[in-house]
Amino acid sequence: MLLLAFFATLCTAQSSDYVGAKACAACHPKQAAAQAATGHARSLHAAELHPLAAKFPGEWEVRGPGYSLRYRLLKGKLRAQGFDAGNTIDIPVEWAFGAGDQAVTFVTRINEEWHLEHYRTWYAATGKMAPTAGHGQLRPKSLAEAMGLPYKTTDPNTGILGCFECHSTGPATAGTDGALRLTEHGVRCEACHGPGARHAATRTKASIGNPRKMTAAELNKFCGRCHRPPASQGVAIDWNYAWNVRHQPVYLSQSACFLRSKGKLSCLSCHDTHGPLVKTAAGYNQKCAACHASPKHRQTGLTNCVDCHMPRVSPQPPLRFTNHWIGVYGSAAKLRPQR
Ligand code: HEC
Ligand code: HEC
Ligand code: HEC
Ligand code: HEC
Ligand code: HEC
Ligand code: HEC
Ligand code: HEC
Repeated sequence: MLLLAFFATLCTAQSSDYVGAKACAACHPKQAAAQAATGHARSLHAAELHPLAAKFPGEWEVRGPGYSLRYRLLKGKLRAQGFDAGNTIDIPVEWAFGAGDQAVTFVTRINEEWHLEHYRTWYAATGKMAPTAGHGQLRPKSLAEAMGLPYKTTDPNTGILGCFECHSTGPATAGTDGALRLTEHGVRCEACHGPGARHAATRTKASIGNPRKMTAAELNKFCGRCHRPPASQGVAIDWNYAWNVRHQPVYLSQSACFLRSKGKLSCLSCHDTHGPLVKTAAGYNQKCAACHASPKHRQTGLTNCVDCHMPRVSPQPPLRFTNHWIGVYGSAAKLRPQR
C-alpha cells in the first residue's frame, strides 16, 4: 500500500513539486555531500560538464570500411565529427550518460523526432573509446549510420526519453521540437524520497518519503523501477543471457538468502545509498556474517565471501556486473548457481 501510494506521487507530480538537491542540502548537508559523490548523482550530464570531459576528445579512429570518427572540443563544446570518401558530418554532442565508473555513452538530438546514441562509448577500465553496447555487430551503410543508432525521442518501448527517465530526477518530457525538458540531471534526492517542495516548507516527517520504511520485496520493486523489478510470476527469464545479470533485483529475489530470511535481506543490507559503492570483496564479509557467522565449508580459511558466492559477469568486456543471485557456483558457471 505504502509503495503504491509512493509510486503514485512519483508518477503524477509536476516539475514544480520538486525543489532539487541544492534545496535539500540546506537542511541535510551530510546526506547531500555524500550523495553528490555517488554514481547516481553523476549518471547524467550535459556532455562538456561531465567530470571526465577532458578525456573524450581524441584522434581519428576508423570504423568499418572507411568511416573516420572522432570527438573534438571546440569553443568549450564537445562535437562528434565523421568523414568518408564523399561526406563530412559535424554535430554537437549534447548528453553524457553514465558516471564513468564503468562507461560514458553520448546522445544528441537530431531533429523533432529522433535522437542519436553515438557509436563510440568511453570505457573507464581501458581509458579508451570502443563501440557502445549493442553497436559492435552493426554494419553501417552510410556515414550517418556510422555515427550511431537513431532512437525515436518518444516511444513507449524504445524512446530515448526512457534513458532520461532512469538517469534523471523528476518529470522528463519532450517539446514539439524534440528538445528535452528535464527537472534535474542525475539520480538525486527526490528520485528516492519523492517530490519535496511541501516537505521543504513544512519540515515534517510525514511530508517526505523514506525507502527505509519499505519491505525488502517492496525495495526490489522500488529500486527496480530503474534497476528492473523481479519478473512477475510465470514470466520466463533467460538465465543464460549474461546482460540480464545487471538487473540486480531480478537476481537477488532468486537467492535462498532473500527467500528464506523472512524479509531481512534487502538492497539496503549491503548498500548505503548515500555513499560510494564499496568495491572490495572484503567490504562485504561483515554483511554476510550478520546471518552466516560460521558457514559450513569443506575447505577452511575462506574469507572473501562474494568472490565465490556473487561472481562477476562480463556480458561485454570491459563492462562487468555482479551476480546478485547469491549461491554456490561451479568454477565455470557464473550465470546461475549450482544450487
Ligand atoms: C528547511 C529545512 C529542510 C529542507 C529544505 C528539507 N528538509 Fe528534510 N527534514 C527536515 C527536518 C527538520 C526533518 C526532521 C523532521 C522530524 O524529525 O520531525 C527532515 C526529515 C527528512 C527525512 C527523514 C524522514 C523520515 O521518515 O524519518 C528525509 C528522508 C528528508 N528530510 C529528506 C529531504 C529531502 C529529500 C529534501 C529535499 C527535497 C529535504 N529533506 C529538504 C528539514 C528539511
Ligand atoms: C531513477 C532511477 C534509479 C533509482 C530509483 C535507483 N537507481 Fe540505482 N542507479 C541508477 C543509475 C542510472 C545508476 C548508474 C550510475 C552510473 O552512471 O554509473 C545506478 C547505480 C546504482 C549503484 C551503483 C553505485 C553507484 O553509485 O553508481 C547502486 C549500488 C545502486 N544504483 C543501488 C540502488 C538502490 C539500492 C536503489 C533503491 C533504494 C536504487 N539504486 C534506485 C538509477 C536508479
Ligand atoms: C530502466 C532504466 C534505464 C534506462 C531506460 C536506461 N538506463 Fe542506463 N543505466 C540504468 C541503471 C540502473 C544503470 C546502472 C547499471 C548497473 O551498474 O547495474 C545504468 C547505467 C548506464 C551507463 C553506465 C555503464 C553501464 O552500462 O553500466 C550508461 C553509459 C548508460 N546507462 C546509458 C544509457 C543510455 C544511453 C540509455 C538509453 C539508450 C539508458 N542508459 C537507458 C538504468 C537505465
Ligand atoms: C538511491 C536512493 C536515494 C537517494 C538518491 C537519496 N536517498 Fe536519502 N535515503 C535513502 C534511503 C534508502 C534512506 C534510509 C537509509 C537508512 O535508514 O539506512 C534514506 C534516508 C535519508 C534521510 C534520513 C536520515 C538518514 O540519513 O538516514 C535523509 C535526511 C535523506 N535520506 C536525505 C537525502 C538527500 C538530501 C538526498 C539528496 C542529496 C538523498 N537523501 C538522496 C535513499 C536515497
Ligand atoms: C539477512 C540474512 C542473510 C544475509 C545478510 C546473507 N544470507 Fe546467505 N542465506 C540466508 C538464509 C536464511 C539462507 C538459507 C539457509 C537455509 O536454507 O538453510 C542463506 C543461504 C546462503 C547460501 C546457500 C545457498 C543455497 O542456495 O543453498 C549461501 C552460499 C549464502 N547464503 C551465502 C551468503 C553470502 C556470501 C552472503 C553475503 C554476501 C550472504 N549469504 C548474506 C540469509 C542471509
Ligand atoms: C548481499 C549483499 C548485497 C545485496 C543485498 C545487494 N547488493 Fe548490490 N552489490 C553487492 C556487491 C558485492 C556488489 C559488487 C561491488 C563491486 O565490487 O563493485 C554490488 C554491486 C551493485 C551494483 C553495481 C553494478 C554491479 O552489478 O556490480 C548495483 C547497481 C547494485 N549492486 C544494486 C543493488 C540493488 C538494486 C540491490 C537490491 C535489489 C542490491 N544491489 C542488493 C552486494 C549486494
Ligand atoms: C573459495 C570459494 C568460497 C569462498 C571464498 C566462500 N565460500 Fe561459501 N561455499 C563455497 C562452496 C564451494 C560451498 C559449497 C559447500 C562446500 O563445498 O564447502 C559453499 C557453501 C556456503 C554456504 C552453504 C553451506 C552452509 O553453511 O549453510 C554458505 C552459507 C556459505 N558458503 C557462506 C560463505 C560465507 C559467509 C563466506 C565468507 C566468509 C564464504 N562462504 C566464502 C565456496 C566459497
